[in-house]
Parts: sequence; structure tokens; C-alpha cells
Amino acid sequence: MIPVIISGGSGSRLWPVSRQADPKPFLKLSDGKSLLQNTFSRSATLTESITSILTVTNEKLHFRMNNEYQQINDKSIRCDFILEPFGRNTAPAVLAAAIFAKENYTEDEIILVLPADHLITDLDAFNSTVAKAVEMAKLGYLVTFGINPEYPETGYGYIEADTATQIGSGFAVKRFVEKPNLELATQYVESGDYQWNSGMFCGQVKTFLAEFEKNSPKLVRDVHKCLSNSVVNDSDTGKSVKLNPELFINAENISVDYALFERTAKAAVIPCSIGWSDIGSWLSIAQTLPKDANGNAIIGESILHNTKDCLVYSTNRIIAGVDIADLVVVDTPDALLVANKNQTQDVKHIFEQLKKMQ
Ligand code: GDD
Ligand code: MG
Repeated sequence: MIPVIISGGSGSRLWPVSRQADPKPFLKLSDGKSLLQNTFSRSATLTESITSILTVTNEKLHFRMNNEYQQINDKSIRCDFILEPFGRNTAPAVLAAAIFAKENYTEDEIILVLPADHLITDLDAFNSTVAKAVEMAKLGYLVTFGINPEYPETGYGYIEADTATQIGSGFAVKRFVEKPNLELATQYVESGDYQWNSGMFCGQVKTFLAEFEKNSPKLVRDVHKCLSNSVVNDSDTGKSVKLNPELFINAENISVDYALFERTAKAAVIPCSIGWSDIGSWLSIAQTLPKDANGNAIIGESILHNTKDCLVYSTNRIIAGVDIADLVVVDTPDALLVANKNQTQDVKHIFEQLKKMQ
């Protein structure tokens, strides 16, 4: 199996800690390691047979990512990279990884696609779930990892399992709906029939390629052409393929959820309980952190009086709170965020305005 770590975007909802020059995978939460290093470690230790990890990311992040990997790469795992000149979303990234794996390994190889910026707290459960997903992948399925939904999040995909059709330890997928509106998401959560899509995917290289071909044939042609006209470098730590910008721009800017998983008849789902969090917003960070007696999640130094259900994140000085509730306060040396805890998805608008001002 080849773990494929995908990373793009800048985590705009986690401003001011996550920025264009310092995106979300480099965020360090509580164990001193970045989200990226945690993703690498959990990939490296999945099974004894892991000898290489493939990363698809922006070319500007290559050296920084490889450095982070080598700091913890105690099994001398080969680190290959596909380097994008700009992001075209996850479908071109996953497809490029599948083509690379076919050319450098075999088409029977299994790839496990992992976002670089998720948090998984139950590693034993993660390992055993992946082992089951691998067995389902060998049956010719593209396996998604379903998470029991806690609230009607509109930033996620929703998976309806076909419980009458068992595939190994999981089920066939009846319906995959990417980012439904609030009304639909609420219906899905209330129905009890849907799971959140975690954004991790597992399948044989040949299944990914056949299903991309069936459902997004132009994308396959464009990404193929781009890869075969790109510059390849070999180094001591692995291979890197720098994608040709003039050809990569032709690849449709679309996520793998829309380009493949909403369309394929070969999707399966393994329900899992692995302590997963997308870390997509300050609210999701707050949900993963331990709380004080008043429900406050605290990183850094703070003094709170009569303060309830807040997230208080300080990087360099004391934050004091008096008589406040349901706020997110994030302080960094050059920017301070104060937001309603239940609207933290909207922090991306601040990020967009700042980009326009630059
Ligand atoms: N290499 C590369 N290139 N990676 C990318 C690109 C790109 O252009 N765009 C996004 N990524 C990476 C992100 O860094 C992240 O690790 C992962 O792909 C998923 O992209 P997001 O942009 O974070 O997707 P999302 O959170 O909106 O939605 C996906 O994840 C949800 C769960 O977290 C979907 O798969 C949803 O269905 C899912 O529920
Ligand atoms: Mg995400």
C-alpha cells in the first residue's frame, strides 16, 4: 500500500494562525508535532509493508514538507512528491497520484489518500479500519471512511450506505452528496441514514483509473498529458515530479468528491470511529480540545472570569476574559481574531479581504 498525502489550500478559516505562507498542515496543536508530521507518522506506521509515501502538494512547499518528514522519518521511508504549480483541487491531485503509482509501482497497488491536515486520535482504530478498507479495495471498490455525523455541517460530504449490500466489513454506497445545503444536511443527520465523508479514500490504482476514466474522461487525458510532459528529479529521499504549468492549467478545477465519488458506482463505505476531526474551523479545533469546568478550550496563557464555552488561543501574551460566552479569541503577534464561536466558517471572508489588500 502507498499512502498518498494531499495538501493544498491555505486553511483560510483558521486565520490568523494558518496563512498562505504558513498553511494548515504546519499547524502545531498540542503534541509539538505539526498536523503534517502526524499524518506522515500514522501513514508510516500503518503496516510493516509501507516503504514509500507519495505527497501531492504545491511546489513552494516541497522543501519545507520534506524537511518536516525527514525530522521524523526513522524508517527511511521513501518520500516521493508530485509538485503542483498551483492548486486545481483534489481530483487532479488524486488522479496524478494514481497515474504516478501505476507508472512507478503496479496497477494492483493500493493507494490510501489522506488529507495532510486532519486529526485522528485513536490510532489503533485507524489502523484496523484501514486494514478492513484494504480488503474492500481488493474487491474492486473505492472505499470511503464514514464518520457518525454530530451536527448538520455543510462543509462536508454525506454518504448513504446501502446496508443491504455488504462489501467486506462495510457497505456499498447508495448515495454520495458533496456539501449539501443546511436544509438537506439537517435532514440527512436527522434521518440517521447518512455518515460524514472523512475525505480519506482507499482503492486499487486500477480501480481509481478506471472510474476516473468512466466518470471524468477529459480530466484523465489532461492529467496524463501533463504528467508525461513534466520534469522528474531523483534525490536521496525520493522522486519529485514538477507538473508542467501550461498543461496543468487545462485540468478541470474540481474536487474528487464531485468528479468521482458523486458519480461512481464503485464506491463503498466503512463506518469508523477513529477520533477523526477535519480541523476545518476554530469550532472544530475547540471540539477536539479538553475543556475547563466552564466549557472553555484554552491554548496558551489566559485568565478567565465568568467566561463560558469559549476558545482562547494565545501565542505570545496573556488573554483575559470577563463575562463572555461562545467566543473564539485567537491572538498572534500581528493579528487578533474575535469571532462568534458558531460562525467560525466565516473567518474565510477575513482572509479573502486580506488577500485583496495585499
Ligand atoms: N495537492 C492538493 N492540491 N491538495 C489539495 C488541493 C489541491 O489543489 N485542494 C485541496 N487539497 C487538500 C487539502 O489540503 C485537504 O488536505 C484535502 O485536500 C481536502 O481538501 P479540502 O479543501 O480541505 O476539502 P473539504 O474539507 O472542503 O472537503 C473534503 O473533506 C471533507 C472532510 O474533511 C471532502 O472530501 C468532503 O466530502 C469531506 O467531508
Ligand atoms: Mg478540509
